[in-house]
Amino acid sequence: MAYIIGSFPTGVMIGKVFFQKDIRDYGSGNTGTTNTYRVLGFIPGTVVLVIDILKGTLAGLLPVLFYQNTHFFVLLFGVIAVIGHCFPIFLKFKGGKAVATSAGISLAYDWHFFVLSAIIFTIILWLTSTVSLTSIISFPLFTLEALLFHDWLLATIAALITVFVIYRHKANIQRLLNGTEEPLHFGLRYKI
Ligand code: G3P
Repeated sequence: MAYIIGSFPTGVMIGKVFFQKDIRDYGSGNTGTTNTYRVLGFIPGTVVLVIDILKGTLAGLLPVLFYQNTHFFVLLFGVIAVIGHCFPIFLKFKGGKAVATSAGISLAYDWHFFVLSAIIFTIILWLTSTVSLTSIISFPLFTLEALLFHDWLLATIAALITVFVIYRHKANIQRLLNGTEEPLHFGLRYKI
């Protein structure tokens, strides 16, 4: 169930249903929040951001229904949702880059971790104006945050997700090195 929740193709669905547009044909070609902002604009992008975060949260909260000692299972189910988000059954296993849905796990695990992480992410985004670079810088900091203020279990999962997030951004890293990565903009550059 966690995998199916994670697989829900929010950005692609909103583009197709409300704008008759496949966001994968524009911008970075990614299915996630940033490309939705880029292609469809602020409101659709924000809807995708919220839903993609909640996918991780909802999946992470599933085991709360069945277990008492849930910390391990919250992370496990959340990670399964992230796998669904990145390799969705509904999009021939070609999905997003794990950022928003991973954030959702932290909300299920401990909202303090989510809030501080969101503040860190926002500050770095404000400094860099580029979501991919922000993601690449933020996730190692989230791991450090987990290590300093939480527990080894969260820190271990955060470290694994960090490696995965950076790997998923390999095309972005290439564009950053070439100087061709687009800063965040609230779209409609690709006229509807
Ligand atoms: O949310 C993923 C973000 O870090 C990069 O997205 O579309 O610029 O590849 P994008």
